[in-house]
Amino acid sequence: MTATPIVIDCDPGIDDAIALLTAFVSTELDIRAITPVCGNQPLERTVRNALTVCELAGRCDIPVHPGCFRPLFREPIHGQFHGRGGLGNAELPEPTKRAERRSAVDFLIEALEAAATGSRLTICCLGPMTNLAVALRMKPAIAAGIERVVMMGGAYREPGNRSLTSEFNVLADPHAAGIVFSSGVPIVALGLDVTHRVMLQPAHVARFGDMSGPIAKTIFDLMAFWDRNDVRRYGSRGGPLHDPLVIAYLLAPQLFRCERARVFVEHESELCMGQTVADWFGKTGGEANVEIATEVDAAVLELILGRLARYDAHVRA
Ligand code: RIB
Ligand code: CA
Repeated sequence: MTATPIVIDCDPGIDDAIALLTAFVSTELDIRAITPVCGNQPLERTVRNALTVCELAGRCDIPVHPGCFRPLFREPIHGQFHGRGGLGNAELPEPTKRAERRSAVDFLIEALEAAATGSRLTICCLGPMTNLAVALRMKPAIAAGIERVVMMGGAYREPGNRSLTSEFNVLADPHAAGIVFSSGVPIVALGLDVTHRVMLQPAHVARFGDMSGPIAKTIFDLMAFWDRNDVRRYGSRGGPLHDPLVIAYLLAPQLFRCERARVFVEHESELCMGQTVADWFGKTGGEANVEIATEVDAAVLELILGRLARYDAHVRA
């Protein structure tokens, strides 16, 4: 089976790092590049974290192209649950791997122009969608090179996580999200409606404490920090596996149920800034270009943990 060519646009971030590590050991995926963006952390830190996670996993073959320094219009906001450096208590060295000189936007434009006449690329957005929005604004024709965008973001029937109405990735750059949702490209949206149902609980984390090797230890450290310990909000201990669900969708889409809709993003209201508003029934006309994930099979958690267990040095000869 031919591996799916993808670009991972992200803001590492603990769950971004877990998503990257899941993708690195999934041979179904051909990771063409990583394009960090300002989000959970300022850009300098998300770039540094992407580089060090690549180095940890022996994936220095994957180019890292630095993206946008800040959102399109609004003031930057950063993540609250990722620890001071963005990777919780995971102690990773300063990377020796260097970022590419070409920016994420220039890379996306060149790669997607080439992909338009070849095998189109799947763009996995795990953070604010500033990079892709700028690339689409600079060269709208690159949409022809996009197989689909699979993004973690939005809250469609679920309340927000960073504000009453809005999910962090969309709230952090609502204008960028609006550009991408209205671009007409095919989108799969994995929002809080499904990510809040995939909770990484202490018992799952404990498994990685029994594994051997530096990567398994880092996975344990990342996961242990991710426990929100907010049973009232989530119904259990643990943390929602937001970004890894994007990788899981690529590996096993059959574990998800999606409903088609158009999606609009609020960017005027102070109270509802970043709210994703779904037109489920075609009331606004226009093409419904977004598959919103509304249900997820619990098996998705074992899929992700099973991939991550491949880093257990005990297992590899
Ligand atoms: O709301 C969850 C999203 O915000 C995830 O991508 C997490 O990494 C943060 O960026
Ligand atoms: Ca993220």
